[in-house]
Amino acid sequence: MKISIIGAGNIGGLTAMRLAESGFVEIVLVDLVKDLSQGKAFDLEDAREILKYNYNIQGTGDIKKIENSDIVIVTAGLTRKPGMSREDLLTKNAQILKEICVNIKELARDSVVIIVTNPVDLMTYLALKITGFKNSKIIGMGASLDASRFANLISQELNIPVTEVEAIVIGAHGEGMLPLSRFTNIKGVPLTKFMDNATIDALIKKTVTRGAEIVSLLGSTSAYFAPSAAITEIVKVILKDEKRILGVSAYLNGEYGIKDICIGAPCRIGREGIEKIIELELDNKEKEIFLKSAESIRRLTPQLIN
Ligand code: LAC
Repeated sequence: MKISIIGAGNIGGLTAMRLAESGFVEIVLVDLVKDLSQGKAFDLEDAREILKYNYNIQGTGDIKKIENSDIVIVTAGLTRKPGMSREDLLTKNAQILKEICVNIKELARDSVVIIVTNPVDLMTYLALKITGFKNSKIIGMGASLDASRFANLISQELNIPVTEVEAIVIGAHGEGMLPLSRFTNIKGVPLTKFMDNATIDALIKKTVTRGAEIVSLLGSTSAYFAPSAAITEIVKVILKDEKRILGVSAYLNGEYGIKDICIGAPCRIGREGIEKIIELELDNKEKEIFLKSAESIRRLTPQLIN
C-alpha cells in the first residue's frame, strides 16, 4: 500500500511516523520545501533499526512521486497563529489546495484522499470539485478529532478512563461544531445521566475552543499529536476495510436536509472511503444548530471559486 502525505510540517511528519510504526511500509512525504521532507524522512529511516521496522519512507519536493498512491493525505498549507480562526486561512490555503488537487487528479486517480488543511470542511469541498472524484473518495479530518477532545474532557471531569467514553461531534470543524451530549455515552449509558446540563455545556464550550487553546499555548502553530492520531485512525480503517463509524467531513447530498457542502457527520468508512453517511435522529434544537453550522460553511464557498 502506498500512502502519500503532502505537507511535511508537524502534522505531516508525525503522521508519517505513526503510519510507519503502524506497519504501513510505503510512505512518501512531499513538501515544497524539499529539505524539510527529506530531513524528516532520513530521521525516520534512522529509527528503523532501533524499532525493528522495515518501512520505506521517501522525502521529496516532487509531487509527481505521489503517483498511484492508495491514499493521499493533504496537510499542506498555513496553520493558525494565536487569535486566528480556521476560516482566516481560507484564501491562501485554497490556492495551495487547488494546485495540489490538480496533481492528485492526474497522478493518483484511484486514491482515497484525506484532507486536513483548514478550514477543512471548505478544503474538502474544494478538493471534491477540483478532482471530480466520487464523493466517497474525499474525506475531511475533523469531527473524530473533536470527538476525541470531547471524550478526553469528559473522562477528566468524571475521573474515568477515556476509553470508556464514546463521544460524538458533528458540524463544522470550527466554532460551529456540535458536540452531541444526547448521543455521547459511557459504556452505553447516556452522558446526561452522569452530569448536569451546566457541566455538559461547559465541556462543550471547552471542546469547541480546544484547538484555539492549544494554538495559543504553542504560540506559533496548531495541534499535531491528536490530529495525526485522528488521520492515522482514518487511514487504518480505510486500508483494513474496517467499516467503522467515524466522524469526518463528508459531502452531503440531502442527508440531514443539507445539500452541496462538506460538513462533519458520522460515516461508515471502508476501503472505498465514505461508504455511508449515518443520519442521527436529531431533535429540533440540535437540527437548528447543525443547519446553522452548515450555513456558516456555505456562506464561504463562493470564496473558493475565485
Ligand atoms: C485542530 C486542527 C487540526 O483542530 O484543525 O487542531
